[in-house]
Amino acid sequence: MLKIKELKKYYNGKKVLITGHTGFKGSYMCVLLKYLGAKVYGYSLKPEKGSLYELLTSGLKQNVSKKKTSLSLKVKKASAIVEDEVFADIRDLKGITSYVEKVKPDYVLHMAAQPLVLRGYKEPQYTYEVNVMGTVNILEAVRRFTDKSKRSNPISILNVTTDKVYENNDLSNYAFKEHDKLCGFDPYANSKSCSELVTYSYAKSFFADKSLYRVSTARAGNVIGGGDLNENRIIPDCFRAIKNKKDMTIRNPHSIRPYQYVLEPLIMYLNIMALQRENEKYEGNFNIGPDKKNCLTTKKLCELFFKAWEDEGSKSKLIKCDNPKDLINEKIDRYNLYKKYNNTKIIISKKNKKSPHESEFLRLDNSLIKKLFSYKEIFDMEDTMRYTASVYYDILGKKNIYESILNIIETLS
Ligand SMILES: NC(=O)c1ccc[n+]([C@@H]2O[C@H](COP(=O)([O-])OP(=O)(O)OC[C@H]3O[C@@H](n4cnc5c(N)ncnc54)[C@H](O)[C@@H]3O)[C@@H](O)[C@H]2O)c1
Repeated sequence: MLKIKELKKYYNGKKVLITGHTGFKGSYMCVLLKYLGAKVYGYSLKPEKGSLYELLTSGLKQNVSKKKTSLSLKVKKASAIVEDEVFADIRDLKGITSYVEKVKPDYVLHMAAQPLVLRGYKEPQYTYEVNVMGTVNILEAVRRFTDKSKRSNPISILNVTTDKVYENNDLSNYAFKEHDKLCGFDPYANSKSCSELVTYSYAKSFFADKSLYRVSTARAGNVIGGGDLNENRIIPDCFRAIKNKKDMTIRNPHSIRPYQYVLEPLIMYLNIMALQRENEKYEGNFNIGPDKKNCLTTKKLCELFFKAWEDEGSKSKLIKCDNPKDLINEKIDRYNLYKKYNNTKIIISKKNKKSPHESEFLRLDNSLIKKLFSYKEIFDMEDTMRYTASVYYDILGKKNIYESILNIIETLS
């Protein structure tokens, strides 16, 4: 597995086209690639108001106008977080084709998606359009472009799907292997299974010339990290509950998920793209999941987050008047309590039988990446929660979020 320092050798000066760069993973990836010296090109919908991407970029502009002295160097680096970007729809084949032609990328990282299970239930047709035809469109754009161009190195493509692509019969203790049947249950999961199949077909039918193409897919689990503000995700829900002192629901408290710190799969994505470009033995379809000990129930995850929030709060000077302990206790007093530990209490909703189906148990077998890439987990749960809480604190404290994330990345060097 290539460490951050080694990754620099592969990405410095290289053009990386990211679809979905304005999303949660995309935002972290932009900072990470910028740190590695890559030229990042983004193709996504416009960032949501108040999203992490908007915080990353608009926060910088604020700093530019207010402070010109010591921050100026970092601001200069950060304000150009991407080399170029387009806010357009991945369903528009013409749009993505002309963008690929314009950029002439060395690497293509496909992350644009409708990634939410509940939205998939509400808008199945849209979810399939974006997740399936969006994948067709980006691969088709690459095919049309490379057909016409003379390249000395292959273009390295990674399609980011999910751990939910497998047919899941909720067998506890079973960890999915890469060759297990692809058949997600709900529209989101199923559209990602289809996206895998589309990639397989393009790889076999059009991308067989290894001098031109290298292509893989990555199936990662649920990621956690400061700044995710998506709806109906558990840590953002915890953060909003604390921030707004509002009620929150833990939907499936006993569900087990392979949670990871956001940078964990991102570093593996970069490893796959870099190494497969060099040697086709690194192409494949890969599970990127934590070891068994980091597969937690949602309830346990919330407990760890609130604990980290308390710990971070006790050393943080960012929140002047609000002691997070008070925030939590004040919040808790208004809720139905099921569990109390230390000073933090967690609220759990009873299972609602009318809720759409979501798997109870999900774990990935990560032995293939361990064998092929010598993969070793970088972040334990303690680091994960500490880093997550710290970036959320920085958001509340209106700090420069680019620097908050960069500081975490720098600890890896
Ligand atoms: N976050 C997780 O826990 C998790 C877990 C497993 C897999 N994934 C996968 O990782 C990828 C990124 O997830 P995320 O959490 O950053 O999601 P996100 O919702 O934060 O970001 C989605 C990105 O896709 C873009 N996008 C959505 N619809 C689009 C369209 N029609 N045209 C162009 N761009 C469009 C958005 O603009 C945004 O940049 C997704 O493919 C998702 O399925 C995420």
